Amino acid sequence: MPDDFERMWSDLAPVGRSSRTGGYFRQPFTAAEEELRAWFVEQCGARGLRVERDGFGNVVGWWDVGSGPALLTGSHLDSVLDGGAYDGPLGVVSALAALDLMRARGAVPARPVGVSVFAEEEGSRFGLACLGSRLATGATTWEQARALTDRDGVALGDVTSGEDGRLLEGVGTYVELHVEQGRDLVDRGAAVGVGSGIWPHGRYRLEFDGEANHAGTTRMEDRVDPMLTYAFTALAANKQARLAGQRATFGRVAVEPNGTNAVPSRVTAWMDARCETEEGLADLVAAISGQAAERAGRDGTTLVVTAESVSPAVGFDPDLAAALAADHEGGDWPVIATQAGHDAGILAVAGIPSAMLFVRNPTGVSHSPAEHAEVADCLVGVSALADTLERLAR
Ligand code: GLV
Ligand code: MN
Ligand code: MN
Repeated sequence: MPDDFERMWSDLAPVGRSSRTGGYFRQPFTAAEEELRAWFVEQCGARGLRVERDGFGNVVGWWDVGSGPALLTGSHLDSVLDGGAYDGPLGVVSALAALDLMRARGAVPARPVGVSVFAEEEGSRFGLACLGSRLATGATTWEQARALTDRDGVALGDVTSGEDGRLLEGVGTYVELHVEQGRDLVDRGAAVGVGSGIWPHGRYRLEFDGEANHAGTTRMEDRVDPMLTYAFTALAANKQARLAGQRATFGRVAVEPNGTNAVPSRVTAWMDARCETEEGLADLVAAISGQAAERAGRDGTTLVVTAESVSPAVGFDPDLAAALAADHEGGDWPVIATQAGHDAGILAVAGIPSAMLFVRNPTGVSHSPAEHAEVADCLVGVSALADTLERLAR
């Protein structure tokens, strides 16, 4: 007998959880994430789903019914560093629960239905967001990805084989349910919504080089301190993004040699930038880079900016979104945009018609241990997903 939503949710609760912060460390190909993957395979087994995997870390459990283009639903089980419980796992657990609900209702889909788990969606270990779905769709090749390294220098090619299992062959539509990462649904008073699209966004590595020196004996005017150039840049990025009504964040910094009593030789900082349009994103990054370079000139430091990954604007099929949102008990579901990246965006760009459902998040907080959704809303999400799959699988 398959486990229900709340039972599955409590199974996952302790996996990869920090006793200090209450947040999750579920980085790909670590013990925590392998445990989650094993749990998923077990859940597929309990439902008689045929499990298929590839060498990128992606897994699909297939309900082999009907014929024709398959319907895929799911999300990811990895987390950001010290992340919340919901970003990713809510979509996977809801997919399994929705399938149970469909079976309990006696629904017999006319098309095969798969539940997917994509690897390294957050890019928290190897730096490239949506790595599993990028590899599965060919948006990134194994040749490009295999040499990516984590913070300890371990290469992706050392932890997984890179064998392409062609998991997405025959997939006609993808639906990803996700916790909302803002407060749109709270403001609209709705438990669930449908995604209209994803803002373009990118990750940029900024390397500031200066001259290592003694923190006590070096006169202030004699220093070539890359920390100052970085600090100016972080402030400039915040100001530029505010002026443009967009988003720019420095959330990760590495200082060399990272000693209290030394002027650093190098500061590497990663900027996450997101805008409503691709043009706006290019302009924002150019403005910040230009100001940083100008400041580097004044500080005597040097700066190299590298775009590590840039994701285009995604517009989900508007007819599909409108059809999914229409005619529900209690009225239509709202259609909302998101600033967060998702595997559904990668599949949509690859030409697979995709849609997203969002579940209300009372505070809008995400990528934090405080991320939350009420059980009652999660259960509305499960039934919304089951309704959606039934509509699509007719
Ligand atoms: C993924 O959640 C992202 O938007 O960074
Ligand atoms: Mn996320
Ligand atoms: Mn996610």
